[in-house]
Amino acid sequence: MAGLMAGFGHYTHAVVRGVPQSLAGDALRINQAEVDAGAAQKEHHAYVDVLKRRLGLEVVELPADESLPDCVFVEDAAVVCGDTALITRPGAESRRKETELMKDTLKNLNLNIVEMTDETAILDGGDVLFTGREFFVGLSKRTNQRGAEILADAFKDYAVSTVPVLEGLHLKSFCSMAGPGLIAIGASEPAQKALKIMQQMSDHRYDKLTVPDDLGANCVYMNLPDMGHVLLHPTAEEFPETVKVYEKLKDYTLIPVSNAEKVKVDGALTCCSVLIYKKPSI
Ligand code: GLY
Repeated sequence: MAGLMAGFGHYTHAVVRGVPQSLAGDALRINQAEVDAGAAQKEHHAYVDVLKRRLGLEVVELPADESLPDCVFVEDAAVVCGDTALITRPGAESRRKETELMKDTLKNLNLNIVEMTDETAILDGGDVLFTGREFFVGLSKRTNQRGAEILADAFKDYAVSTVPVLEGLHLKSFCSMAGPGLIAIGASEPAQKALKIMQQMSDHRYDKLTVPDDLGANCVYMNLPDMGHVLLHPTAEEFPETVKVYEKLKDYTLIPVSNAEKVKVDGALTCCSVLIYKKPSI
């Protein structure tokens, strides 16, 4: 099995996309919830601002498309690892066209593009957990075995294991990487069961950071020059007990980022950006 990739968590660029007004009425959601598109736009603006101004990433901002109500959740349209971008075939038909602009954007960033063209395959990036050593792919309503196989073909340097997603939308609706070798995981039984499966599949012993709220386990880890370990995590207004757990992490720059509106349509922090590392050209 591969060791920890060099530069795990290093990023220079982020791709994000605006929030359309149509998110309020038409974005997919598991639970019926009223959503204020204006509030989601404001919240997203603050998220993008953190990436750009606080962290100094080069942010490519794609315009919202009113005909694609879920388009802000860019993570589902592409999986980027190293110089390769796998353009996915999202599980929800209403989201398939989100990949078009993503493909052009990642091509313009000089990534090697692999497209998931097999019509029997589905995969949302929200179901893909890359640990820096291997991939775990959630088998959910949005991602199937064929999707996972195509991902494995695209990223041949890494092992790929599948994990059933028994609750919530995606694998990363209850887990994410909170550091090298550190998996943030919700405390619910389905989340803990999924972690157990991941641990059984792996040769590596991951540390776990259990947080009381499953949705609170979705955070964005980066390792940035001059800053070191950085973690974007939910706010204390949303998940007070979960934030207490993050606050125990030593030597991290902890940045609470509100996601209270987008979570009503099952969007989490990782969903709202595609993160990329590009070597500086000499
Ligand atoms: N609203 C995010 C999704 O269902 O794909």
